Amino acid sequence: MKPKSFSTRAVHAGEHTPAGDYTPVVNPIYATVGYLYDSTDDLDAVFAGTKEGYVYPRYGSPTLTSFEGAVADLEEGQAAIAFGSGMAAIHAALLGAGVRAGSRVMAALDVYGATYSMVNRLFRELGAEASFVDAANLKAVEAALAEQQPAALIVETISNPLLKVADLPALAELARRYRAKLLVDNTFASPYLCRPLAYGADYVIHSATKFLSGHGDVMAGVVVTSAENRQKLYELNIIIGGSLGPFEAWLARRGLKTLPLRVRQQCQNALGVARWLAEHPKIAQVNYPGLPAHPQHELALRLFGERGFGGVLSFEIAGADRPAVFRFLEAIDLCLSATTLGDIYSLIMHPATTSHRSLSAEERAQVGIRDGLLRLSVGIEDIDDILADLAQALEQV
Ligand SMILES: Cc1ncc(COP(=O)(O)O)c(C=O)c1O
Repeated sequence: MKPKSFSTRAVHAGEHTPAGDYTPVVNPIYATVGYLYDSTDDLDAVFAGTKEGYVYPRYGSPTLTSFEGAVADLEEGQAAIAFGSGMAAIHAALLGAGVRAGSRVMAALDVYGATYSMVNRLFRELGAEASFVDAANLKAVEAALAEQQPAALIVETISNPLLKVADLPALAELARRYRAKLLVDNTFASPYLCRPLAYGADYVIHSATKFLSGHGDVMAGVVVTSAENRQKLYELNIIIGGSLGPFEAWLARRGLKTLPLRVRQQCQNALGVARWLAEHPKIAQVNYPGLPAHPQHELALRLFGERGFGGVLSFEIAGADRPAVFRFLEAIDLCLSATTLGDIYSLIMHPATTSHRSLSAEERAQVGIRDGLLRLSVGIEDIDDILADLAQALEQV
Protein backbone atom coordinates (compact mmCIF):
# COMPACT_ATOMS: atom_id res chain seq x y z
CA MET A 1 0.00 0.00 0.00
CA LYS A 2 1.47 3.36 -1.02
CA PRO A 3 1.09 5.88 1.84
CA LYS A 4 -0.70 8.99 0.69
CA SER A 5 -0.59 11.70 3.30
CA PHE A 6 2.33 14.12 3.55
CA SER A 7 3.14 13.31 7.20
CA THR A 8 3.21 9.57 6.51
CA ARG A 9 5.47 10.01 3.50
CA ALA A 10 7.77 12.32 5.50
CA VAL A 11 8.39 9.43 7.88
CA HIS A 12 8.68 6.55 5.38
CA ALA A 13 9.63 7.77 1.88
CA GLY A 14 13.08 6.67 0.68
CA GLU A 15 13.57 4.43 3.74
CA HIS A 16 13.39 0.64 4.35
CA THR A 17 15.51 -0.31 1.33
CA PRO A 18 15.99 -4.12 1.28
CA ALA A 19 19.61 -5.19 1.86
CA GLY A 20 19.74 -8.87 0.93
CA ASP A 21 17.90 -11.08 3.44
CA TYR A 22 16.78 -8.24 5.70
CA THR A 23 15.48 -4.69 5.45
CA PRO A 24 16.77 -1.96 7.77
CA VAL A 25 14.08 0.23 9.29
CA VAL A 26 16.44 3.18 8.90
CA ASN A 27 18.74 3.08 5.87
CA PRO A 28 22.34 3.21 7.13
CA ILE A 29 25.14 5.64 6.38
CA TYR A 30 27.26 4.17 3.58
CA ALA A 31 30.62 5.64 4.55
CA THR A 32 32.48 4.15 1.62
CA VAL A 33 34.17 5.68 -1.37
CA GLY A 34 34.58 2.50 -3.42
CA TYR A 35 32.14 -0.26 -4.41
CA LEU A 36 33.25 -3.78 -5.38
CA TYR A 37 31.59 -5.89 -8.08
CA ASP A 38 32.27 -9.57 -8.80
CA SER A 39 31.76 -8.94 -12.49
CA THR A 40 33.58 -6.16 -14.35
CA ASP A 41 30.73 -6.26 -16.87
CA ASP A 42 28.38 -5.24 -14.03
CA LEU A 43 30.69 -2.41 -12.98
CA ASP A 44 30.87 -1.30 -16.61
CA ALA A 45 27.06 -1.37 -16.88
CA VAL A 46 26.71 0.73 -13.70
CA PHE A 47 29.13 3.29 -15.11
CA ALA A 48 27.15 3.29 -18.37
CA GLY A 49 23.91 3.85 -16.44
CA THR A 50 22.29 0.69 -17.85
CA LYS A 51 22.35 -1.06 -14.46
CA GLU A 52 21.48 0.32 -11.05
CA GLY A 53 24.34 0.54 -8.61
CA TYR A 54 27.05 2.73 -7.16
CA VAL A 55 30.62 3.35 -8.19
CA TYR A 56 31.88 6.44 -6.43
CA PRO A 57 30.19 8.91 -4.02
CA ARG A 58 30.49 11.90 -6.36
CA TYR A 59 28.14 9.96 -8.66
CA GLY A 60 25.77 8.93 -5.88
CA SER A 61 25.47 6.63 -2.90
CA PRO A 62 22.68 4.61 -1.25
CA THR A 63 22.46 7.20 1.56
CA LEU A 64 21.96 9.96 -1.01
CA THR A 65 19.37 7.89 -2.86
CA SER A 66 17.41 7.61 0.38
CA PHE A 67 17.39 11.38 0.99
CA GLU A 68 16.78 12.23 -2.67
CA GLY A 69 13.90 9.75 -2.88
CA ALA A 70 12.25 11.25 0.18
CA VAL A 71 12.53 14.87 -1.03
CA ALA A 72 11.31 13.96 -4.54
CA ASP A 73 8.32 12.23 -2.97
CA LEU A 74 7.46 15.15 -0.67
CA GLU A 75 7.83 17.69 -3.50
CA GLU A 76 5.77 15.43 -5.81
CA GLY A 77 8.56 15.39 -8.38
CA GLN A 78 9.93 12.58 -10.52
CA ALA A 79 13.50 12.80 -9.19
CA ALA A 80 15.85 14.72 -6.94
CA ILE A 81 19.59 15.26 -6.77
CA ALA A 82 21.39 16.38 -3.62
CA PHE A 83 24.33 18.76 -3.31
CA GLY A 84 26.73 19.91 -0.62
CA SER A 85 24.86 23.20 -0.11
CA GLY A 86 21.86 25.17 -1.30
CA MET A 87 24.13 27.38 -3.40
CA ALA A 88 25.66 24.34 -5.13
CA ALA A 89 22.09 23.21 -5.91
CA ILE A 90 21.13 26.63 -7.33
CA HIS A 91 24.30 26.76 -9.44
CA ALA A 92 23.68 23.32 -10.90
CA ALA A 93 19.98 24.01 -11.54
CA LEU A 94 20.75 27.25 -13.42
CA LEU A 95 23.30 25.40 -15.57
CA GLY A 96 20.82 22.57 -16.08
CA ALA A 97 18.19 25.10 -17.17
CA GLY A 98 20.53 26.25 -19.94
CA VAL A 99 22.13 29.40 -18.53
CA ARG A 100 25.35 29.83 -20.50
CA ALA A 101 27.48 32.55 -22.10
CA GLY A 102 25.20 34.30 -24.58
CA SER A 103 21.95 33.34 -22.82
CA ARG A 104 20.13 35.25 -20.09
CA VAL A 105 19.17 34.52 -16.52
CA MET A 106 16.44 36.54 -14.82
CA ALA A 107 15.90 36.59 -11.07
CA ALA A 108 13.38 38.05 -8.67
CA LEU A 109 14.85 41.26 -7.31
CA ASP A 110 14.80 40.17 -3.67
CA VAL A 111 16.28 36.69 -3.85
CA TYR A 112 18.77 35.49 -1.21
CA GLY A 113 22.00 37.56 -1.29
CA ALA A 114 24.31 34.82 -2.61
CA THR A 115 21.78 33.91 -5.32
CA TYR A 116 21.67 37.59 -6.29
CA SER A 117 25.46 37.68 -6.50
CA MET A 118 25.63 34.40 -8.42
CA VAL A 119 23.28 35.82 -11.05
CA ASN A 120 24.61 39.36 -11.06
CA ARG A 121 28.34 38.68 -10.74
CA LEU A 122 29.30 35.09 -11.50
CA PHE A 123 27.03 34.43 -14.47
CA ARG A 124 27.68 37.89 -15.89
CA GLU A 125 31.45 37.33 -15.59
CA LEU A 126 30.99 34.03 -17.43
CA GLY A 127 29.28 35.84 -20.31
CA ALA A 128 25.58 35.36 -19.55
CA GLU A 129 23.20 38.31 -19.51
CA ALA A 130 21.54 38.86 -16.14
CA SER A 131 18.54 40.88 -15.08
CA PHE A 132 16.23 41.31 -12.11
CA VAL A 133 12.50 41.83 -11.92
CA ASP A 134 9.94 42.48 -9.20
CA ALA A 135 8.36 39.01 -9.22
CA ALA A 136 5.28 40.35 -7.38
CA ASN A 137 4.50 42.57 -10.38
CA LEU A 138 3.22 40.13 -13.01
CA LYS A 139 2.90 42.80 -15.69
CA ALA A 140 6.57 43.73 -15.20
CA VAL A 141 7.52 40.03 -15.30
CA GLU A 142 5.63 39.50 -18.55
CA ALA A 143 7.16 42.58 -20.17
CA ALA A 144 10.66 41.53 -19.09
CA LEU A 145 10.19 37.94 -20.31
CA ALA A 146 8.82 39.10 -23.65
CA GLU A 147 11.59 41.61 -24.21
CA GLN A 148 14.57 39.69 -22.81
CA GLN A 149 13.71 36.02 -23.55
CA PRO A 150 15.75 34.56 -20.65
CA ALA A 151 16.66 30.87 -20.56
CA ALA A 152 15.70 30.77 -16.88
CA LEU A 153 13.67 32.71 -14.34
CA ILE A 154 14.49 32.07 -10.68
CA VAL A 155 12.19 33.13 -7.83
CA GLU A 156 11.66 32.21 -4.17
CA THR A 157 8.22 30.96 -3.03
CA ILE A 158 8.61 33.19 0.03
CA SER A 159 11.46 35.63 -0.46
CA ASN A 160 14.44 36.11 1.85
CA PRO A 161 14.28 38.41 3.83
CA LEU A 162 11.27 40.50 2.71
CA LEU A 163 8.77 37.63 2.77
CA LYS A 164 7.13 38.41 -0.57
CA VAL A 165 5.07 35.50 -1.88
CA ALA A 166 5.48 34.48 -5.53
CA ASP A 167 2.35 33.79 -7.58
CA LEU A 168 3.71 30.45 -8.76
CA PRO A 169 0.79 29.38 -11.01
CA ALA A 170 0.89 32.74 -12.84
CA LEU A 171 4.69 32.80 -13.07
CA ALA A 172 4.75 29.22 -14.39
CA GLU A 173 2.21 30.15 -17.06
CA LEU A 174 4.25 33.21 -18.10
CA ALA A 175 7.53 31.27 -18.10
CA ARG A 176 5.98 28.58 -20.30
CA ARG A 177 4.58 31.20 -22.68
CA TYR A 178 7.97 32.83 -23.15
CA ARG A 179 9.91 29.53 -23.10
CA ALA A 180 11.91 30.24 -19.95
CA LYS A 181 12.54 27.48 -17.41
CA LEU A 182 11.03 28.37 -14.04
CA LEU A 183 13.25 27.63 -11.03
CA VAL A 184 11.66 27.99 -7.61
CA ASP A 185 13.70 28.20 -4.42
CA ASN A 186 11.23 26.65 -1.99
CA THR A 187 13.51 26.89 1.06
CA PHE A 188 11.30 29.21 3.12
CA ALA A 189 7.99 27.49 2.37
CA SER A 190 9.21 23.87 2.49
CA PRO A 191 7.11 21.21 0.73
CA TYR A 192 4.86 21.17 3.79
CA LEU A 193 3.38 24.52 2.71
CA CYS A 194 3.79 24.42 -1.05
CA ARG A 195 4.84 22.09 -3.91
CA PRO A 196 5.86 24.36 -6.81
CA LEU A 197 6.18 21.54 -9.39
CA ALA A 198 2.43 21.04 -9.12
CA TYR A 199 2.01 24.68 -10.22
CA GLY A 200 4.22 24.17 -13.27
CA ALA A 201 7.76 24.95 -12.05
CA ASP A 202 10.55 23.11 -13.88
CA TYR A 203 13.00 22.93 -10.98
CA VAL A 204 12.44 23.19 -7.22
CA ILE A 205 15.48 23.98 -5.13
CA HIS A 206 16.09 23.82 -1.40
CA SER A 207 18.78 24.91 0.90
CA ALA A 208 18.23 21.69 2.87
CA THR A 209 20.42 23.31 5.51
CA LYS A 210 17.19 24.99 6.66
CA PHE A 211 13.69 23.57 7.22
CA LEU A 212 14.29 20.18 5.54
CA SER A 213 17.03 19.24 8.01
CA GLY A 214 15.71 21.54 10.68
CA HIS A 215 18.20 21.12 13.53
CA GLY A 216 21.05 23.43 12.58
CA ASP A 217 23.57 20.62 12.17
CA VAL A 218 23.67 19.93 8.40
CA MET A 219 24.62 21.85 5.27
CA ALA A 220 22.91 20.45 2.17
CA GLY A 221 21.07 21.40 -1.00
CA VAL A 222 18.69 19.56 -3.28
CA VAL A 223 17.03 20.02 -6.68
CA VAL A 224 13.75 18.28 -7.55
CA THR A 225 12.82 18.04 -11.21
CA SER A 226 11.87 15.66 -14.05
CA ALA A 227 13.82 12.43 -14.51
CA GLU A 228 15.22 13.83 -17.76
CA ASN A 229 16.44 17.05 -16.14
CA ARG A 230 17.86 15.08 -13.23
CA GLN A 231 19.95 13.00 -15.65
CA LYS A 232 21.43 16.24 -17.07
CA LEU A 233 22.21 17.51 -13.55
CA TYR A 234 23.74 14.15 -12.65
CA GLU A 235 26.07 14.32 -15.67
CA LEU A 236 26.95 17.94 -14.87
CA ASN A 237 27.63 17.14 -11.24
CA ILE A 238 30.03 14.33 -12.10
CA ILE A 239 32.19 17.10 -13.54
CA ILE A 240 31.41 19.85 -10.99
CA GLY A 241 31.52 17.59 -7.94
CA GLY A 242 29.11 19.40 -5.64
CA SER A 243 27.81 16.12 -4.20
CA LEU A 244 26.45 15.76 -0.69
CA GLY A 245 28.37 13.48 1.68
CA PRO A 246 26.67 10.41 3.20
CA PHE A 247 26.75 11.65 6.81
CA GLU A 248 24.95 14.88 5.91
CA ALA A 249 22.51 13.02 3.66
CA TRP A 250 21.61 10.70 6.54
CA LEU A 251 21.09 13.59 8.98
CA ALA A 252 19.02 15.48 6.41
CA ARG A 253 16.82 12.40 5.83
CA ARG A 254 16.35 12.04 9.58
CA GLY A 255 15.38 15.69 9.88
CA LEU A 256 12.72 15.30 7.20
CA LYS A 257 10.78 12.84 9.34
CA THR A 258 9.63 15.61 11.67
CA LEU A 259 9.24 18.31 8.98
CA PRO A 260 5.41 18.50 9.25
CA LEU A 261 5.48 18.62 13.05
CA ARG A 262 8.20 21.25 13.17
CA VAL A 263 6.82 23.50 10.44
CA ARG A 264 3.28 23.35 11.86
CA GLN A 265 4.58 24.59 15.23
CA GLN A 266 6.88 27.17 13.62
CA CYS A 267 3.99 28.57 11.55
CA GLN A 268 1.78 28.81 14.62
CA ASN A 269 4.51 30.52 16.68
CA ALA A 270 5.51 32.86 13.81
CA LEU A 271 1.92 34.04 13.36
CA GLY A 272 1.71 34.79 17.09
CA VAL A 273 5.02 36.66 17.06
CA ALA A 274 4.09 38.62 13.90
CA ARG A 275 0.78 39.73 15.48
CA TRP A 276 2.56 40.74 18.69
CA LEU A 277 5.27 42.70 16.86
CA ALA A 278 2.67 44.44 14.67
CA GLU A 279 1.08 45.83 17.87
CA HIS A 280 4.36 46.86 19.51
CA PRO A 281 4.93 50.65 19.66
CA LYS A 282 8.64 50.34 18.81
CA ILE A 283 8.04 48.35 15.61
CA ALA A 284 7.61 50.26 12.35
CA GLN A 285 7.02 47.38 9.95
CA VAL A 286 6.37 43.62 10.09
CA ASN A 287 6.71 41.48 6.97
CA TYR A 288 4.78 38.20 7.35
CA PRO A 289 2.39 36.69 4.78
CA GLY A 290 0.05 35.60 7.57
CA LEU A 291 -0.87 39.19 8.45
CA PRO A 292 -3.92 40.52 6.55
CA ALA A 293 -1.94 43.73 5.81
CA HIS A 294 0.71 41.76 3.87
CA PRO A 295 0.38 42.57 0.13
CA GLN A 296 0.23 38.89 -0.86
CA HIS A 297 -1.85 37.61 2.09
CA GLU A 298 -4.68 36.38 -0.18
CA LEU A 299 -2.20 34.71 -2.51
CA ALA A 300 -0.50 33.01 0.46
CA LEU A 301 -3.89 31.70 1.59
CA ARG A 302 -4.52 30.37 -1.93
CA LEU A 303 -1.12 28.66 -2.18
CA PHE A 304 -0.65 27.39 1.37
CA GLY A 305 -4.28 26.78 2.37
CA GLU A 306 -4.82 26.10 6.06
CA ARG A 307 -1.26 24.90 6.60
CA GLY A 308 0.18 28.27 7.65
CA PHE A 309 2.44 31.04 6.39
CA GLY A 310 5.93 29.85 7.22
CA GLY A 311 8.26 30.13 10.18
CA VAL A 312 10.13 33.27 9.11
CA LEU A 313 9.23 36.94 9.42
CA SER A 314 11.15 40.19 9.21
CA PHE A 315 10.59 43.50 10.95
CA GLU A 316 11.98 46.99 11.33
CA ILE A 317 12.49 48.74 14.64
CA ALA A 318 11.17 52.30 14.30
CA GLY A 319 13.95 54.80 13.68
CA ALA A 320 16.68 52.26 14.42
CA ASP A 321 20.06 52.78 12.78
CA ARG A 322 22.77 50.13 12.62
CA PRO A 323 24.15 50.72 16.19
CA ALA A 324 20.63 50.50 17.67
CA VAL A 325 20.00 47.25 15.80
CA PHE A 326 23.32 45.87 17.03
CA ARG A 327 22.33 46.79 20.64
CA PHE A 328 19.07 44.88 20.15
CA LEU A 329 20.97 41.83 18.84
CA GLU A 330 23.34 41.94 21.81
CA ALA A 331 20.42 42.14 24.24
CA ILE A 332 18.52 39.23 22.69
CA ASP A 333 19.04 36.08 24.70
CA LEU A 334 16.78 33.11 23.92
CA CYS A 335 16.59 33.82 20.19
CA LEU A 336 20.00 32.97 18.80
CA SER A 337 21.76 35.67 16.86
CA ALA A 338 23.08 33.27 14.22
CA THR A 339 23.15 33.33 10.43
CA THR A 340 20.74 30.61 9.49
CA LEU A 341 17.01 29.86 9.60
CA GLY A 342 14.44 27.09 9.61
CA ASP A 343 15.72 25.38 12.75
CA ILE A 344 13.86 24.26 15.85
CA TYR A 345 15.62 27.17 17.62
CA SER A 346 14.51 30.76 17.12
CA LEU A 347 17.18 32.57 15.14
CA ILE A 348 17.55 36.26 14.53
CA MET A 349 19.86 38.07 12.15
CA HIS A 350 20.58 41.35 10.43
CA PRO A 351 20.33 40.87 6.64
CA ALA A 352 22.30 44.03 5.71
CA THR A 353 25.44 42.72 7.42
CA THR A 354 24.98 38.96 6.91
CA SER A 355 22.86 37.30 4.18
CA HIS A 356 22.88 40.41 1.96
CA ARG A 357 26.35 41.65 2.84
CA SER A 358 27.64 40.80 -0.65
CA LEU A 359 25.28 43.43 -2.14
CA SER A 360 26.44 47.03 -2.35
CA ALA A 361 24.53 49.63 -0.28
CA GLU A 362 22.85 50.81 -3.54
CA GLU A 363 21.82 47.25 -4.44
CA ARG A 364 20.36 46.72 -0.96
CA ALA A 365 18.46 50.01 -1.19
CA GLN A 366 17.05 48.96 -4.58
CA VAL A 367 15.92 45.60 -3.15
CA GLY A 368 14.40 47.28 -0.08
CA ILE A 369 16.74 45.91 2.60
CA ARG A 370 17.28 48.77 5.04
CA ASP A 371 19.75 48.89 7.93
CA GLY A 372 16.93 48.60 10.48
CA LEU A 373 15.60 45.31 9.06
CA LEU A 374 15.88 42.15 11.18
CA ARG A 375 14.91 38.62 10.14
CA LEU A 376 13.49 36.24 12.72
CA SER A 377 13.16 32.53 12.09
CA VAL A 378 10.76 31.34 14.75
CA GLY A 379 11.55 28.02 16.41
CA ILE A 380 9.42 25.49 18.26
CA GLU A 381 10.05 26.91 21.74
CA ASP A 382 7.15 28.11 23.90
CA ILE A 383 5.86 31.30 22.29
CA ASP A 384 5.66 33.11 25.65
CA ASP A 385 9.41 32.66 26.11
CA ILE A 386 10.09 34.01 22.60
CA LEU A 387 7.86 37.06 23.19
CA ALA A 388 9.45 37.75 26.58
CA ASP A 389 12.90 37.71 24.98
CA LEU A 390 11.84 40.10 22.20
CA ALA A 391 10.17 42.40 24.75
CA GLN A 392 13.26 42.68 26.98
CA ALA A 393 15.57 43.27 23.98
CA LEU A 394 13.26 45.96 22.56
CA GLU A 395 13.46 47.76 25.92
CA GLN A 396 17.22 48.18 25.33
CA VAL A 397 16.69 50.08 22.07
C1 LIG B 1 16.36 31.13 0.32
C2 LIG B 1 17.75 30.58 0.36
N1 LIG B 1 18.23 29.94 -0.72
C3 LIG B 1 19.47 29.42 -0.74
C4 LIG B 1 20.32 29.57 0.33
C5 LIG B 1 21.71 29.01 0.27
O1 LIG B 1 21.76 27.81 0.95
P1 LIG B 1 23.10 27.22 1.61
O2 LIG B 1 23.51 28.17 2.69
O3 LIG B 1 22.68 25.86 2.08
O4 LIG B 1 24.11 27.17 0.51
C6 LIG B 1 19.86 30.24 1.47
C7 LIG B 1 20.76 30.40 2.64
O5 LIG B 1 20.44 31.08 3.58
C8 LIG B 1 18.55 30.75 1.49
O6 LIG B 1 18.06 31.41 2.55
